[in-house]
Amino acid sequence: MTIKTELQATITALVVAGKGILAADESAPTIAKRFKAINVESTEANRCAYRSLLLTTSGLSEFISGVILFDETLGQKTVDGKSLPEVASGRGIVPGIKVDKGFVPLVNAQGDVVTQGLDGLAERLAIYKGQGARFAKWREVYSISPHNPTPVGITTNAEVLARYAAICQSLGMVPIVEPEVLLDGSHSIDHCFEVVENVQYAVFQALHRHQVELEYMLLKPSMVVPGKEAPHRASAEEIAEKTLAVMRRSVPAAVPGINFLSGGQTPEEATANLNTMNAMAGNAPWQLSFSYGRALQQPVLEAWQGRPENLQAAQKALYKRARLNGAARYGNYSARMELEAQCLGTHNTVGQP
Ligand code: 13P
Repeated sequence: MTIKTELQATITALVVAGKGILAADESAPTIAKRFKAINVESTEANRCAYRSLLLTTSGLSEFISGVILFDETLGQKTVDGKSLPEVASGRGIVPGIKVDKGFVPLVNAQGDVVTQGLDGLAERLAIYKGQGARFAKWREVYSISPHNPTPVGITTNAEVLARYAAICQSLGMVPIVEPEVLLDGSHSIDHCFEVVENVQYAVFQALHRHQVELEYMLLKPSMVVPGKEAPHRASAEEIAEKTLAVMRRSVPAAVPGINFLSGGQTPEEATANLNTMNAMAGNAPWQLSFSYGRALQQPVLEAWQGRPENLQAAQKALYKRARLNGAARYGNYSARMELEAQCLGTHNTVGQP
């Protein structure tokens, strides 16, 4: 298989009507924070049990085409000895891997940060590929303030994303390019619009400079929303309209898919916003999908509480959110579906890997 055939096969498996990506790639400190909220200790065994629970949810692949995992998870095994990437691919879900190493302050750009992990990336990707990963994810983070992101923050982060994406493609791994504009703050939706637009222009310029083939990547952006503390709240229609406008301006038609992050929106908001975008998208050149972490997992963690007897309830919660986001891919979701018992589906038995 040539590298292009390999990249195309992964894109084809990931970008599927009615499906999106499950982000289960929380770093050690982040998963510890999520577990602490439900009084579960973040031990290796608990992390393995939780991620196995996610991946063995019966019927998950009806709505989930890929899963982003964390370094440790790639090497973990279920009780019957299968590696977690094998469990995912055996169930028709493409395994991927988060490869960035988190961010540090960007010197001389006060308030901005830059993500680390480019050194040795090619070597790490080769190992991850050997463990079954077929795509990767890298997140750059931008805060909004009257001074941020700075011009140097925007260009530096874009350059890093492009270098990462080029390295991935050279090794046959599809890059997910994630420029996350944070929700924190009291900025208006129009300020967010301006930042997302500037950030994405810079990202696609850098991707072009580094000859990244847009056909073989996915974009994982933030939606255009007001800051968490902003006095004016926006409707799903306003969010969808503004997000679509920014994407049309800044994302070339060659990109096959835009998989939004949830970024602190509630599960219901994230589903409703994606749904409204798909309902309004018309003949958009890219698929509008999801790559949600919290918006898929929050109800699962709440149902699980770290107790084996809650496994089935937790898997039902994941199946329900996946199904509703699957409906949102077609613009077919409605808030009423949150209450329908059928959302729990017939696939609520505990799946075996
Ligand atoms: P959220 O959907 O919780 O924002 O997580 C997505 C993600 O992968 C962040 O990097």
